[in-house]
Amino acid sequence: VRSTGELLASQVPLPEPFRVPLPVPRVLQPVRREGDADRYEIVQREATAEILPGLSTPIWGYDGTFPGPTVESRSGRTTSVHHRNELPVPTVVHLHGGRTPPDADGYATDLVLPVGAAGNIHNGPSKHMYMHDPDAVVTMGARDYVYPLRQRAATLWYHDHRMDFTGPAVYRGLAGFHLVRDEVEDALPLPHGDRELPLMICDRSFAEDGSFRYPSIDNTLRTVPGVDESYVEGVMGDVILVNGAPWPVAEVPATRHRLRVLNASNARRYELALDPPPPGGKAFTQIGSDQGLLAAPRTHESVPVAPAERFDLVVDFGRYPVGTEVTLVNRLGSGPTERVMRFLVARRAEDDSAIPALLSEIEPLERAQATVTREFAFRGGLMGDRHGWLIDGQPFSPTRIDARPRLGDVEIWRFVADLHHPIHLHLVNFQVLSRGGHAPGPHGIGLKDTVDLNPGEAVEVIARFDGYRGRYMFHCHNLEHEDMGMMGNFETM
Ligand code: C2O
Ligand code: CU
Repeated sequence: VRSTGELLASQVPLPEPFRVPLPVPRVLQPVRREGDADRYEIVQREATAEILPGLSTPIWGYDGTFPGPTVESRSGRTTSVHHRNELPVPTVVHLHGGRTPPDADGYATDLVLPVGAAGNIHNGPSKHMYMHDPDAVVTMGARDYVYPLRQRAATLWYHDHRMDFTGPAVYRGLAGFHLVRDEVEDALPLPHGDRELPLMICDRSFAEDGSFRYPSIDNTLRTVPGVDESYVEGVMGDVILVNGAPWPVAEVPATRHRLRVLNASNARRYELALDPPPPGGKAFTQIGSDQGLLAAPRTHESVPVAPAERFDLVVDFGRYPVGTEVTLVNRLGSGPTERVMRFLVARRAEDDSAIPALLSEIEPLERAQATVTREFAFRGGLMGDRHGWLIDGQPFSPTRIDARPRLGDVEIWRFVADLHHPIHLHLVNFQVLSRGGHAPGPHGIGLKDTVDLNPGEAVEVIARFDGYRGRYMFHCHNLEHEDMGMMGNFETM
């Protein structure tokens, strides 16, 4: 089996220098605006994309593109998205980071069946879970997901969330940005317009014919878990894509830019840095985290980004001489997985942006406010005769509720792990209270919805469980770990 790098090198003539311009996902226009509601329509369908030069890659895309179109919403306006499923499998859409009523949150068994494939519930492994979930809501062909978006401005994303099939579905392309904007953010002089770049970073491997190489899936779309080590650990590619393009280049004027970084990889973690670092100062000014603006900016030489985490970073390219090529590198990678993308500092330009000392108001939650401390252990183990990823020794079941927070209560959740597990809670945002018994490091600040656990290190998060009553998932966002059982439920009462 050849790596994607070898595959590229075998192409004659090799595009040299290999220069793909950074694609920016199309912003989806609403089909209707009415009162305080905006309506969008998306078709989930098969398509092909030229990701590697000269090769055609079959994808599953929202509107046939990878990444899907970017949805842009105003905080407080209701966004409804009509999703039509023209794919050959049932799907589920989850708005990651959205404060969403349970019926629209994309619960793992709330399937939308393919258009015209009446009764095709048996396509794939989720039939098992569906049949055992008395609360599952199955829809034929299409449905509306309605998002009230009573939340602050933030970089959210939407992706498939089907039980034990999320990994392969997202790997084939089912992911897109959903940006929420509000007045607080509008009033700040942050870089905007084409100086605001959403960057969806993910890794993929390719077969010789250009198709994505995903282990443990056969061509009838059945997963064959447990047969391949690389599946069990989480699927990692051998080349990094940004907005669906390998090793792209963005020409940037020598001014401040806002990079909305999302790690949409199934399993890969990154440590992002700039090479060369800017003269005189740290590379990144972090202005936001998963759930929006920080209270105050923080500077970093590098940022660790686990699957599903977002970092809102300002980079001042004005500190580099015009003509500099600046590489966004991944310090946790090697060879092709060490290079993420390049910025070419193209010309001098006026800079009308600034980074204020105060960005937003965040109410810090205190330990004393918590009514309960709960503990969850995220570890591998055996499920029958095959390897599974478990929470407190148990694989996901839609009928088992692991926690019942009272609506409005503040709780501390304490996590321990055997390996790296990026843990995501639906519905709520949280603050990291401690890591390994200490205050969280400089990267753990702000309002989060996903936190990476380090092997053997306890992490405490504190959250107010408000918003809606109902059943929600929490899980590891290594998507193969999730598919292999590392997911639980909480129910706000
Ligand atoms: Cu990004 Cu439960 O998912
Ligand atoms: Cu995990």
